[in-house]
Amino acid sequence: SSRPLVDLIGRRHNYLRISLTERCNLRCQYCMPAEGVALSPRAALLSTAEVLRLARVFASLGVDKVRLTGGEPTLRADLADIVRGLNEIEGIRSVSMTTNGLVLTRRLPALQRAGLAAVNVSLDSLRPDRYERMARRPGLSRVLAGVDLALQLGYRPVKINTVLMRGFNDDEILDFVEYTRDREIEVRFIEFMPFSGNGWDDSRMVPQREALQAVRARHAALQPQPPRLHDTATVWRVPGYAGSVGFISSMTQNFCSSCNRLRITADGNLKVCLFGAAEVSLRAALRGEAGAPADDAALRRLVRAALQRKRPRHAGTYGQSRAHGQPPDDSHRRL
Ligand code: GTP
Ligand code: 5AD
Ligand code: SF4
Repeated sequence: SSRPLVDLIGRRHNYLRISLTERCNLRCQYCMPAEGVALSPRAALLSTAEVLRLARVFASLGVDKVRLTGGEPTLRADLADIVRGLNEIEGIRSVSMTTNGLVLTRRLPALQRAGLAAVNVSLDSLRPDRYERMARRPGLSRVLAGVDLALQLGYRPVKINTVLMRGFNDDEILDFVEYTRDREIEVRFIEFMPFSGNGWDDSRMVPQREALQAVRARHAALQPQPPRLHDTATVWRVPGYAGSVGFISSMTQNFCSSCNRLRITADGNLKVCLFGAAEVSLRAALRGEAGAPADDAALRRLVRAALQRKRPRHAGTYGQSRAHGQPPDDSHRRL
């Protein structure tokens, strides 16, 4: 079926994010409580073959970009097999990963050989003590070494995801800018988003406007970069610096109107929006948990039906989340 995945307001979906596990080796404050989260039963997790089967179905619907997420995707022992398998699927032109970077020095070379095209690394503080307070685990030096290895291996740019939390790391904005001076990285300051149980409060969120002002106060010649289609970030460059600085304003200026993303959770649910509930269990369908196993055509119908229910905008939008009083979804299953 070659009709593209277009929803009711004309958004075309070509970008699939696949969560490979709910587990993580960190406990970042904005994501999980210290004790961790209730995990789906092991049997509910998609196998390598199931991930590849679903990816083939999505590729047949026009998906050409896959990003592997978690939890922490490097906790999957079969990660390199998945990357290799995804690269063999006709139509998929890019397979990338978002990771906390803890084990990149050990695992990135093999992932690159398997065809991993790009890597985004979460990093919220450049100070070891703070990093450990945020992540509730040590690891800063390993992450920094992982970023440098990615650069050595030729990844350009390496994107760094920095969630700003007021009173925690908002005084490190300029340090992160300096981190881009000699490295072809793109540091992206992200507005703290509400997920159930993560202690979100709008006073803790640093709006893009404010973060940008902090950078400009020090770097008056900051130059806007041309917008890239479907980019989550607006990107700027300090003249003379190797890297760049971006801002992801999911809260104050959502980019829902140009959204091209779909998600599969680790236990095989399709989500048409980062916020909001799972739409349908593709796992149950493909395993035939309630009836006959679905063939590819049936899976495609399920995906299209779910997409028809996609809302124009997420309910977590700044201002509206409180109005609707809707508890946003668990972040660890969805990213
Ligand atoms: P690229 O594929 O390199 O553009 O990466 P990305 O920025 O889309 O993905 P990444 O996993 O690095 O996510 C970085 C941040 O983007 C997240 O922390 C979110 O704040 C935001 N983000 C990613 N996907 C979505 C989405 O579908 N909706 C919204 N509102 N924000 C998203
Ligand atoms: N708000 C903003 N970004 C978040 N991430 C995880 N939780 C949140 C949150 N509550 C980011 C991580 C990771 C990316 C996939 O999502 O830092 O880089
Ligand atoms: Fe797309 Fe939902 Fe993210 Fe908005 S919040 S950009 S609709 S996934």
